[in-house]
Amino acid sequence: MSPQESKLIDIDEIIDSYPGRPEYLIFLLQDIQAAFNYISPEALALVCDHTGVPLSRAYSVATFYKSFSLEPRGEHEIKVCDGTACHLRRSELLVEHLERRLGVPAGGTTKDLRLTLDTISCPGCCASSPVVMLDEDYYPKFTTRQLDELLKDLEAD
Ligand code: FES
Repeated sequence: MSPQESKLIDIDEIIDSYPGRPEYLIFLLQDIQAAFNYISPEALALVCDHTGVPLSRAYSVATFYKSFSLEPRGEHEIKVCDGTACHLRRSELLVEHLERRLGVPAGGTTKDLRLTLDTISCPGCCASSPVVMLDEDYYPKFTTRQLDELLKDLEAD
């Protein structure tokens, strides 16, 4: 589901789809993250009201798992591996290039909510380093020129 489609989803619809018990906390957070690309403070409070989980506990859970974000995320995520093999092949140059092109630091999201830039730990394909991911797709042995092409394709999309 795209973030555009998710805007049509009512948060109450998600919350009401689970029984109001603490053991459903993570399921609710997963569904809200999937639908809205992040968990807003209001959504977290609604989940706590529904499940009876204290806000401090829900906040701990939401910040513990990297798959949850309490900040709005981009429609697409571009990630550069910063594992050892990629680092040795100067993956930081790719990160710096993206930071300049997108105008956000690693971990940041563009103002139009189109792209989030992040780094990741080794996904296990070191022979292809440096590795870039766009959403679920891997791009092996990537260069700044290829990054520009990828961004151009995204803009045209
Ligand atoms: S260190 Fe980047 S893929 Fe392994």
